[in-house]
Amino acid sequence: MPSRPEYPIGVFDSGVGGLTVARALMRQLPHENILYFGDTARVPYGVKSVDTIAQYAIQITDFLLEREVKLLVVACNTMAAVAAEAIRARSPVPVLDVIVIGAQAAAQNTRNRHVGVIGTLATINSGAYDSAIQANDPAISVHSQACPLFVPLVEEGWLDHPVTLLTAQEYLAPVLAQQIDTLVLGCTHYPLLQPLLESVAGNAVRLIDSAAATALQADALLTQLGLRNPGSTSPGHQFYVTDVPQRFQTVGERFLGKPLGDIQLVKW
Ligand code: DGL
Repeated sequence: MPSRPEYPIGVFDSGVGGLTVARALMRQLPHENILYFGDTARVPYGVKSVDTIAQYAIQITDFLLEREVKLLVVACNTMAAVAAEAIRARSPVPVLDVIVIGAQAAAQNTRNRHVGVIGTLATINSGAYDSAIQANDPAISVHSQACPLFVPLVEEGWLDHPVTLLTAQEYLAPVLAQQIDTLVLGCTHYPLLQPLLESVAGNAVRLIDSAAATALQADALLTQLGLRNPGSTSPGHQFYVTDVPQRFQTVGERFLGKPLGDIQLVKW
């Protein structure tokens, strides 16, 4: 059956982090119905093996496809890094992923062709950003750095804490030494650190937030396919999670920028 404009957009992530992408989508496309899936029982993915991450990603893809989504948005950089092809091969509806979009934005922004990328261990080790950026322009040098401590620091709410500042200075030093003019925030959690990272990186470096870029692409794609929801009533935003940890509400609201609405627990 062909998709219809009122069908929801399926957004998925390893946990709460992808709510930064959901927030950007809600701002850009205020009439769209959204199904968000956060695998809160199995997060973090960033330190897991490629096989495990791919298996989880397929399971979530099937869950959302069964609910008639018109578009899939892979908000999790780690899943996009290792499973984007498998997800696309399985999906009859279009798939947008934050890596392809972030890479394109970085390639368009850089002037000196030195781009930095920060992300989880799995994302950086996969080399997915390097390939995606160089697919846009092979002359770009990509300087990558895994920043595994950022995810727990952000979830702790230490967005401008001295410990986070010191950690950022340590992680970014080797990347900044390469004279980058563009830095890709290659993880769902990092947009919350944007002010702190800007202060460490300085004015000469532009930060690329793939959440905002993904929302713009989703808008363009739905318009092109004639699938934008024209409805003026308030849209449905449904959140599926595989566990409801104690601090889920507070952490989730920090990511989404507003209270989480309808949360449903999924038991597999
Ligand atoms: N959502 C993940 C990402 O964007 C970060 C959290 C995790 O490691 O699962 O890479």
